[in-house]
Amino acid sequence: MARALVTGGQGFIGGHLCRALVERGDSVIALDLPLAQGNALELHGIRGEVELIEGDVAERGTVDQAVRGADSVFHLAAQTLVGPAAEDPTGTFRSNVQGTWTLLEACREAGVSRVVVAASDKAYGPSDRLPYREDHELQPAATYEGSKAATDVISRSYWPSWGLPVAVTRLANVYGGGDLNFSRLIPELITACLEDRVPGIRSDGSPRRDFLHVSDAVAAYLAIDDMLPEGAGEAFNAGTGTPRSVNEVIEAIKAATRSDCRPALLSEGSLQGEIDSQFVDASKLREATGWSPQVDFEDGLAEAVSWYREHPGIRPAG
Ligand SMILES: NC(=O)c1ccc[n+]([C@@H]2O[C@H](COP(=O)([O-])OP(=O)(O)OC[C@H]3O[C@@H](n4cnc5c(N)ncnc54)[C@H](O)[C@@H]3O)[C@@H](O)[C@H]2O)c1
Repeated sequence: MARALVTGGQGFIGGHLCRALVERGDSVIALDLPLAQGNALELHGIRGEVELIEGDVAERGTVDQAVRGADSVFHLAAQTLVGPAAEDPTGTFRSNVQGTWTLLEACREAGVSRVVVAASDKAYGPSDRLPYREDHELQPAATYEGSKAATDVISRSYWPSWGLPVAVTRLANVYGGGDLNFSRLIPELITACLEDRVPGIRSDGSPRRDFLHVSDAVAAYLAIDDMLPEGAGEAFNAGTGTPRSVNEVIEAIKAATRSDCRPALLSEGSLQGEIDSQFVDASKLREATGWSPQVDFEDGLAEAVSWYREHPGIRPAG
């Protein structure tokens, strides 16, 4: 039986990925902080089927234990929020950058055959040249973006330097049921609309993003894992290629929840430290693996709305 490690396995994408790996028949280990914000393994009903190691991905002893015997490693653990990154650069760089090299060093010494690392389209930084292609320079302009650019560059260097078969994902904005990060647009909007609460939107509604359903994100991880060592040392975008403004997302969620909630638009343009417009060209991944997004936005939102409806106890704190 193949053995797969998912760092950040109690998080949003990591939980969905653990479930897919269990369904694939792998023996799955999740590494996450003891006080992880999420409890994705329980939410997915797979807590009994996944070995959970509670610890910090920047701690070498913990990571050595987690990596032992792994055939595939998916590195998703990170401080993932833009606001907290700006408030705590040191903690963010420790988790996201030190955590990455600690994990890669452990993989190198253990001789892991496939490593897929989560960077982000945020690593590209603000740009007028859209959609981003993988040969677009990384020009991070804020802390979270910088941490993901460092993750990306450090990870890719392990193939030419050490022959570690590692590839990097640059995913667009991922959404779907099970995201407990309520400072993100879609979880906040859906839960507010379901509860007749006024959602707070940190912009004037104009910023545009490329929204990828979590099942398509998981499929991208699995496709890259299958492809390795082909594609080692490379980065792959994954997204729909279709940008949507925050205002369009608001209208779509009002329709999906059959609500007339009226968000409070809290700033002019984008919030400082956030990018105005982002979307990716995913043709490199499509050509290399045959991957393409399968879930259109309306269907993906309907899935997410159902999930939050079915989990009324899961709502933003306060
Ligand atoms: N959600 C998105 O839109 C998106 C888009 C592009 C890239 N990504 C990347 O995908 C990955 C997963 O994102 P997500 O949306 O599931 O985020 P998430 O915040 O839900 O999950 C991240 C997990 O990492 C864990 N973690 C944080 N610091 C850690 C540490 N030091 N040691 C061990 N575990 C730690 C957290 O407890 C959490 O469970 C991240 O690397 C993120 O940067 C996410």
